[in-house]
Amino acid sequence: MPVLSNGELGQRVAEAADLVTVALDELLPRADGPEGRLTEAMRYSALGPGKRLRTYFALETGRMFDVPERSTLRAACALECIHAYSLVHDDLPAMDDDDTRRGRPSAHKAYDEATAILAGDALQTAAFEILAHPDTHSDGAIRAELVARLAQAAGARGMCGGQMIDILGVRDDLGGVARMQRLKTGALIACAFELPLVLARAKDSERHAMLAFAHDLGLAYQIVDDLLDAEGDPERLGKAVGKDAGKGKANFVTLLGVPAARERLALLREQTKSHLEPFGAAAEFLRASVDFVLERQS
Ligand code: IPE
Ligand code: IPE
Ligand code: MG
Ligand code: MG
Ligand code: MG
Repeated sequence: MPVLSNGELGQRVAEAADLVTVALDELLPRADGPEGRLTEAMRYSALGPGKRLRTYFALETGRMFDVPERSTLRAACALECIHAYSLVHDDLPAMDDDDTRRGRPSAHKAYDEATAILAGDALQTAAFEILAHPDTHSDGAIRAELVARLAQAAGARGMCGGQMIDILGVRDDLGGVARMQRLKTGALIACAFELPLVLARAKDSERHAMLAFAHDLGLAYQIVDDLLDAEGDPERLGKAVGKDAGKGKANFVTLLGVPAARERLALLREQTKSHLEPFGAAAEFLRASVDFVLERQS
């Protein structure tokens, strides 16, 4: 099987990101009058230069399971709306109080706090509006399942729950940090795989293998985020670094130290890929994306 270089995969990720950006641009509302400020802030936050990695995972999974691209693309856009909303709220003064995101002023700096809160809220509802539309899938039961899965991943037992644990501050327990990660970041990353699997009406055995893969990939993603927070380049990252240690927050790197965090990542690399074995060559791009995620510098 040919091994893809990170450069080749980067190209594929960039092409997927462009697809999603064009689709999101069409799906997100534009408004005249005073509420135009809100739709502008939504667009600023969702169409900005993010990596769109979750949407890349969704598109690649859809391709693997022969889902029509139009459907996967809409599901990917919904997921990106939730992700963008989570970052807008994450940066607010009441949460991480970060002034920079994706190399630009955070939404509450580019606009103001009230507008940023509303833009996050409206991005969240836009996500469910996109999924509920018949263009996403002709079968209403499938659409309802997509809505339920995204709601679960984003809600109290998913991203919001993880953010709560983060804000309360887990101090010194690796198990606690791992649980926080599973909810805060892992749930939405897993959703990037789950939504296309729902669209594909995948078999339980396929879902289990893909979700085990998603679980390990999400963990690796957060360990890399924590390493970059400790020693990444803020210019390249487009966001401030040293935030977690500075606030006395525990994460994988503050608890384990850089060398042990790197060792854990090295172990995760093969373990993550091993979940894709049942899919053979069809999983070539997802397999290569593990190396891409582990070696990312931004
Ligand atoms: C940042 O996510 C926050 C985490 C959950 C680790 P990304 O690193 O995927 O952010 P963007 O979308 O590329 O800006
Ligand atoms: C944010 O985690 C996760 C969500 C928004 C759900 P972080 O607070 O670590 O993300 P960054 O480092 O600000 O991107
Ligand atoms: Mg945070
Ligand atoms: Mg943050
Ligand atoms: Mg971080």
